[in-house]
Amino acid sequence: FSPIGDDGMIGILLILNGLKVTLIVTFFAMLLGAVLGVGTTLMKMSSKWYIRFPAELYVGVIRGTPVVVQLVILYFIVLAALDVDKITAAIIAFGLNSGAYISEIIRAGIQAVDKGQTEAARSLGLSQAMTMKLIILPQAIKNILPALGNEFIVLLKETAVIGFIGGVDLMRAGEIIRSRTFEDSVPLFTCALIYLFLTYSFTFMLSKFEKRLKQSD
Ligand code: ARG
Repeated sequence: FSPIGDDGMIGILLILNGLKVTLIVTFFAMLLGAVLGVGTTLMKMSSKWYIRFPAELYVGVIRGTPVVVQLVILYFIVLAALDVDKITAAIIAFGLNSGAYISEIIRAGIQAVDKGQTEAARSLGLSQAMTMKLIILPQAIKNILPALGNEFIVLLKETAVIGFIGGVDLMRAGEIIRSRTFEDSVPLFTCALIYLFLTYSFTFMLSKFEKRLKQSD
């Protein structure tokens, strides 16, 4: 016996399961994206064009096409023969997508550090690598971390297209309930509120963290 009835119970379980999928995909895609982002940035800083070129092509293609198109192509074409499950495919697709954006975040963060810092470090005799490690990166980190937090929020919301490959995330769970019960407001507003709660709490934590970073300025 449950006070909200069996259908209500099934609905809640669907939503909770969808929420789990949304969080898992977002988290692992962000991890994959961070690794790819750092790697891509390093490649883009290379002096050799054949190392820079693939990195630039990757960022260009990813940023120039919608993530939902990338997801569908990856799942139905690229990974079709490999029998990869939907969640893994989604993690790879969103991770690949995020990697391109993260590499741009890192690049922008590094470029925002005043050129005078490099010039001063170099004229004091620090090597290019030492300048990067000791002078530029510690300052760039302050630009990069808040932007990474923002990327996490974008990614979380962007996973709402997982339904395109048949994965049941939070959004799709709401959709399933809507189509089966003909009750639209409750499931869809529930989804919206959960997304809002997640992004809002994350933004809140982020702003606290940014204040801490600012203190050392
Ligand atoms: N909606 C945009 C697209 O479909 C954003 C993609 C994801 N953005 C991001 N920063 N990871 O291309």
